[in-house]
Amino acid sequence: MNKWRCLKGALLFLIFFASTTVSVAGELQTIKLPAPDKKGGRPLMQVLNERRTSREFSTRELPEQVISNILWAAFGINRPASGKRTAPSAVNWQEIDIYLASREGVYLYDPGEHSLEPYMEEDIREHTGRQKFTSVAPVNLIYVADHRRMKGTDDQQKIFYSAADTGFISQNVYLYCASEGLATVVIGAVDKKALEKVMALEPHRKVILTQTVGYPPR
Ligand SMILES: Cc1cc2nc3c(=O)[nH]c(=O)nc-3n(C[C@H](O)[C@H](O)[C@H](O)COP(=O)(O)O)c2cc1C
Repeated sequence: MNKWRCLKGALLFLIFFASTTVSVAGELQTIKLPAPDKKGGRPLMQVLNERRTSREFSTRELPEQVISNILWAAFGINRPASGKRTAPSAVNWQEIDIYLASREGVYLYDPGEHSLEPYMEEDIREHTGRQKFTSVAPVNLIYVADHRRMKGTDDQQKIFYSAADTGFISQNVYLYCASEGLATVVIGAVDKKALEKVMALEPHRKVILTQTVGYPPR
């Protein structure tokens, strides 16, 4: 009888331990990205010759170094003294935030720390576009404008400038992908209201475009 109780106790402990381990492992953590590789890449004119939209993706995950390079190329800080970035922004508002949606969940890119901060622990890739490939590719970038940072202008201008600024960022990603043989597509056909709701974004944060990135299928 005692032996049976002991065994039962050990079993319960094991179940409890396993479940807590799983839930801890499931929590998103800050990812301090490796420094971007600024010496890599092919000559600009060759890259422009290769730049294209691709809509077929492998499910293969992108290594952290590649994610680091993509985000820095997109809108990283390239002049630390002034905090200015790899893409221009009207009035230097720097109003575009990049969220990264992956299988594990959603992260927010912090350019100052060059890190990914946990945002939500849910796979929302299917909401980042209406086309099936968004759920196949490992990464979908979500470009979100913070209208509060755009001081001294009206709503119409905010919409115009945040769209223009996102264009520069997404082109940087296109060029990096062309240089590295990655597949990418920028997406306007996304239910922005639905995505803003899924992400529980405050009303002054607006989804502008999304962009799928991954390896081409083998
Ligand atoms: C603002 C914008 C929105 C776009 N939206 C989508 C989209 O929702 N889905 C898609 O498959 N491609 C989308 N594209 C990609 C275009 O279809 C693509 O750039 C165009 O066909 C030209 O092809 P290329 O990029 O290979 O030159 C978009 C491109 C831009 C610039």
